[in-house]
Amino acid sequence: MARILLTGATGLLGGAVLHEALQRDDGTAWVCLVRCANADQGRQRVAGRLARFTDPFTAQRLARKVEIVPGDFTQADRDNDPRLDDVTHVLHLAADTSYFGGERLFRTNRDGSLALARRAARMRHLRRFLHIGTAMSCGADAGPVVSEGRSDPAARHLVPYTASKAAAEEALLAELPDLPLVVARPSIVVGHSTLGAGPSSSILWLVRAADRLRLLPCAPESHCDIVPADWAAGALLTLLLKPHLAHDLYHVSAGRPSVTRWSELNRAFEACEPSDGVRALASFDLSDRAALRDRFREVFGLDSPLKQTMLRATRAYYAFCALDMTFANDRLLAEGVAPAPSLSAYLATCLANSGPIVDQFADDLEMFVRAPQAPAALPQAVVA
Ligand SMILES: NC(=O)c1ccc[n+]([C@@H]2O[C@H](COP(=O)([O-])OP(=O)(O)OC[C@H]3O[C@@H](n4cnc5c(N)ncnc54)[C@H](OP(=O)(O)O)[C@@H]3O)[C@@H](O)[C@H]2O)c1
Repeated sequence: MARILLTGATGLLGGAVLHEALQRDDGTAWVCLVRCANADQGRQRVAGRLARFTDPFTAQRLARKVEIVPGDFTQADRDNDPRLDDVTHVLHLAADTSYFGGERLFRTNRDGSLALARRAARMRHLRRFLHIGTAMSCGADAGPVVSEGRSDPAARHLVPYTASKAAAEEALLAELPDLPLVVARPSIVVGHSTLGAGPSSSILWLVRAADRLRLLPCAPESHCDIVPADWAAGALLTLLLKPHLAHDLYHVSAGRPSVTRWSELNRAFEACEPSDGVRALASFDLSDRAALRDRFREVFGLDSPLKQTMLRATRAYYAFCALDMTFANDRLLAEGVAPAPSLSAYLATCLANSGPIVDQFADDLEMFVRAPQAPAALPQAVVA
């Protein structure tokens, strides 16, 4: 019987995975490593996240099914809790996901993942360590269609976050070659295919803002590789529990079959929120900082620190959109995972329970707060 250690249960993907897995009720034991003062508090934190996927009563009932181990994954190599000894699978989702966290990102995402992996290496029955990276570990110059393979360690990164995630993968491979490591790299997780914006509006605000601005840093025929949280959770569970996998690295992405084309998304917005029937999207050069700032001010205003940060975040995210990258998922589909629905297909569900765009951005605010010592090497494109 599988005994799974999950990190990141209080986050977006962790909540989605746990909600999906606990509903299956297949006898698998779930152990969640959670930052908390004690197990009760940790369970309440997990229940709080699960309540984004279901009613509060069911969330409490599901949370009672998991074992809580209070802890910080970056210190896991010093954690001798015997409940970790019999773990058979590790699903390592936890990470510092702030774009501009500076050196702290490397301490958490690279050094912290190594600490957890060292603890995992002492688990007697460990069958798989599923490490969650990011598709953008490939760096900014790997497109337009990125294959499922190792990244160039010297790749150029737009933000320190993706560099730290790439460094984590490299460090795990170099320092723990005997770990039964599988890497899953999600692309961009937006919304939920049936619950819409309820579980999270992370990055949904950006797609909505692009629509309201009618301004793209790329051609309207370009693409954005987006997947819903529930589909990503199902794919991760397959990669975690399938006894034999053909590869040790996968994209959890839309890939060519389901990639979102901005022009299609534009038509989907028009169907959901009819305007003039034209909804013309203009392209602009991201280096034209005034063009985006002036348009942003016109549409949202720039009258609060929140909106100023949202402009900076829009610019940072637009730098990724401008790359027009699609992440091939042939390996994942060959493991039996069905293609993801494209965002155009579930946009209406997301908009149905969406609040104001600026409020949705507030949910992502932490991702875009700068560390005091942001690296000087950041390209101008992402410095607002
Ligand atoms: N969401 C996406 O679009 C996306 C795309 C590509 C890759 N990914 C990757 O997928 C994974 C999950 O992403 P997400 O969006 O679910 O992230 P998230 O919502 O930001 O959640 C991060 C999780 O990590 C936990 N965590 C952070 N530092 C920790 C520590 N030192 N010890 C214990 N737990 C810690 C957080 O716990 P607290 O609640 O205690 O802070 C939280 O549960 C990450 O590895 C991310 O890089 C996500």
